[in-house]
Amino acid sequence: MEKQGLQVAIDGPASAGKSTVAKIVATRFHYIYCDTGAMYRAITWKVLQAGVALDDEAAVKQLLDSITIRFEPGEPTQKVFVDQTDVTLAIRQPDVTNSVSAVSALPAVRQELTARQRDIADAGKIVMDGRDIGSTVLPDAEVKIFLVASVDERAQRRLKDNAAKGIDTPLATLKHEIEERDRKDSTRKVSPLTQAADAIRLDTTSMSINQVADKIAEIIKEKESL
Ligand code: DC
Repeated sequence: MEKQGLQVAIDGPASAGKSTVAKIVATRFHYIYCDTGAMYRAITWKVLQAGVALDDEAAVKQLLDSITIRFEPGEPTQKVFVDQTDVTLAIRQPDVTNSVSAVSALPAVRQELTARQRDIADAGKIVMDGRDIGSTVLPDAEVKIFLVASVDERAQRRLKDNAAKGIDTPLATLKHEIEERDRKDSTRKVSPLTQAADAIRLDTTSMSINQVADKIAEIIKEKESL
């Protein structure tokens, strides 16, 4: 397929604001938005439903091969489907959040989801967010952003997000979960969370969502005009 527009990769640790910013940027440029974390969450949801052990790589891979993971436009968030089931809310629940690092550490899962993500991004005009997009999934992406923010700030943001979704988890627990996920995501053997050498690092701790989106939009416009 001929590539139409740019590939924009946005990576960073949990709750650094990636998905909110990625959505705004995609809307502004009429690009597709792909939340790769939701894909790892979707297979994790399926694994929990099926009662498969989180570390049984062959069984998890077989399960992944048997399902489709689809996105549909929706407000305020894109909808996520596993086959015909709407899992948009289910994949944000604590059981999935606490198991997703184990499932996303399985090499066979990463290989398969990386291939699906490359298919989605092939035609360009895509904003994709995750942990390894600039480093592994789309190494040739024209725009690579690495978003960071302090743990305190990220826990506060997740608290707000959760409140809007009716999920009630204390701030201290959220901080602990974020630190744990950072540790697991950064230390796993395959495709750990790392900043690509050519990525632009943005510390969003004291930036508003719109300031971050504006900054990324500027970078995209510069690349588009080359
Ligand atoms: O962004 P998120 O919190 O929804 O991501 C859920 C988990 O998926 C996160 O703990 C790490 C994993 N993940 C990954 O390993 N690679 C990606 N490209 C995206 C997410």
